[in-house]
Amino acid sequence: MFRDHNCSELTKLDVGKKITLSGWVNKRRDHGSMIFIDIRDRYGITQLIFDPEISSITHEMAKKLRNEWVFSIKGEVALRDAPNPNLKTGDIEILVENLKILSASKPSPFPIFEDKTETNEELRLKYRYLDIRRKPILDKLKMRHLVMLETRNFYSENGFLEINTPILCKSTPEGARDYLVPSRVYKGNFYALPQSPQIFKQLLMIGGIDKYFQIAPCFRDEDLRADRQPEFTQIDVEMSFDGKDKLFELVETHLKRVFKKCKNIDITIPFEKMSHAECLEKYGSDKPDLRFDMELIRLDEIAKKTSFSIFLDTLNADGCVKAIKVEKGADLSRKKLDEYSSFVKPFGLKSLFFIKKTNGSLTSSITKFFADDLLKEIDEKMQIANDDILFIASDAETKVNQALDHLRRKIAHDRNLIKPNVYKFLWVEDFPLFEFDVEENRLKSMHHPFTSPSTKDIHLLEKEPLKVRADAYDLVLNGYEIAGGSQRIYDSEIQSKIFKLLNLSEEDIKQKFGFFIDALEYGTPPHGGIAYGFDRLIMILTNTDNIRDVIAFPKTLKSLDLMSSSPCLVNQDQLKELEIKTQEIEKITWE
Ligand code: AMO
Repeated sequence: MFRDHNCSELTKLDVGKKITLSGWVNKRRDHGSMIFIDIRDRYGITQLIFDPEISSITHEMAKKLRNEWVFSIKGEVALRDAPNPNLKTGDIEILVENLKILSASKPSPFPIFEDKTETNEELRLKYRYLDIRRKPILDKLKMRHLVMLETRNFYSENGFLEINTPILCKSTPEGARDYLVPSRVYKGNFYALPQSPQIFKQLLMIGGIDKYFQIAPCFRDEDLRADRQPEFTQIDVEMSFDGKDKLFELVETHLKRVFKKCKNIDITIPFEKMSHAECLEKYGSDKPDLRFDMELIRLDEIAKKTSFSIFLDTLNADGCVKAIKVEKGADLSRKKLDEYSSFVKPFGLKSLFFIKKTNGSLTSSITKFFADDLLKEIDEKMQIANDDILFIASDAETKVNQALDHLRRKIAHDRNLIKPNVYKFLWVEDFPLFEFDVEENRLKSMHHPFTSPSTKDIHLLEKEPLKVRADAYDLVLNGYEIAGGSQRIYDSEIQSKIFKLLNLSEEDIKQKFGFFIDALEYGTPPHGGIAYGFDRLIMILTNTDNIRDVIAFPKTLKSLDLMSSSPCLVNQDQLKELEIKTQEIEKITWE
């Protein structure tokens, strides 16, 4: 037997007991006569004492132990002279009688026992199995497990069946690029890895399953970001007959339970709701962070009455003028303001204009273009208090929105406007059904092609498709899109109409999702659903802005697995068997 207790269990109540522990050397201090070793496992740490007076052989053996060696001891629990209040086992220590070294370790490439790390992420990812021993990563994996468990319990208790859907699927267009898997048996044919179980969950509804959920692996070959991985996990949900309101209530109750049970935090439900158009108007983004104010305010009407040619030209070209107010920001240095001006440049904004209020009057390099009554108007509209500053952007609407959205978040960060442990949920609704893809010169689905148009806009489908809103919704939390879904089309005629508007030929439709169109004709219940980005939810619950922290074996921003050196070239025989010839080969250099 290697252990009868774990390394975080023993307390004062166990003093005098003979116990066996196993684990890793967390830290050792050799005081010559006495050796102190902290033994660590995933539960915690216990202090061990190797005293030559208790066993000289064991004491001699303990001299060999180094950090990260695995060992097992037998000994007696004793009260500590100097308790450590920061440790769960801090009242006791073990007087070791017997030691067995189970396996040695090379020196670790980075320290494991420190929570804070200076080690660069690449090195930690290369030795991810060592990184997982570190408490910050371990805690996040534990949170992942807890949330998964609560999720499974919650949905099962509410009558949902967890059903696994295929990983080898048919390639269907869903927004991102597919990962393809060649078929050996049928040369030149490919499976695709699922970008999400979307079609399958709808087929389950047609199959009468009624309430489905799945903790589902998804794969998307897209540009990665701090909150995006090529391989990620969704909590995927679909239900028939119940509609959107019921779904919102279900998701809210689920999240309330998760936050309470996994973080002991009470969140308020129901969540706030906002239309997609209002989000863009007020925050310049469809995933606004509502933990701080600084709304974008449209100043077109005022700008129109100035003599400032940049404003006038922008408005003539159908652009807009919008501003955000930074309270008590009038003392921002010239250098800082220049930094903000450079910050917005990558979003296509040529310049930012500033207006400050000091000693009751507005000053700026552009106030000369404002008549006195206009200054009064802007003062009232923006409710400028003494020592506030306005940041004004004037350009095409998408650029202004994008730039001010990023600027708003940067300023909030710089000025510490985000309070810890605040969770601001928001349902974003009424997305447009389509967007126009200029490159391909055609309509594209904003969500996916199975999203139902909003019933109030169905009459606009043929003539003004870009005005049609979708019965789709996203759930936003602290500026992250943590879930998205929609009510689906259950009428095969409307589905075909949508495919046509998307410029998919009969042939395309038949080839790509003929099976699905067929299925819709065999009695489809009204249904809808949602998928939460599970990893993003865990990011927020564990206070990290790096998605890699919450995934056991993640990929880098360049889609590389640094630990196993993947992707990699495969042996020629494997390719031959698949009848695949590669034209160009890129050899990846691994550090
Ligand atoms: P959607 O594409 O919006 O919807 O995805 C749902 C949620 O999954 C998360 N997500 C990601 N997380 C990490 N890395 C990624 N690359 C990534 N891509 C998406 C986001 C997002 O809100 N089938 C539909 C859902 C439905 O209609 O029911 C779907 O997949 O948090």
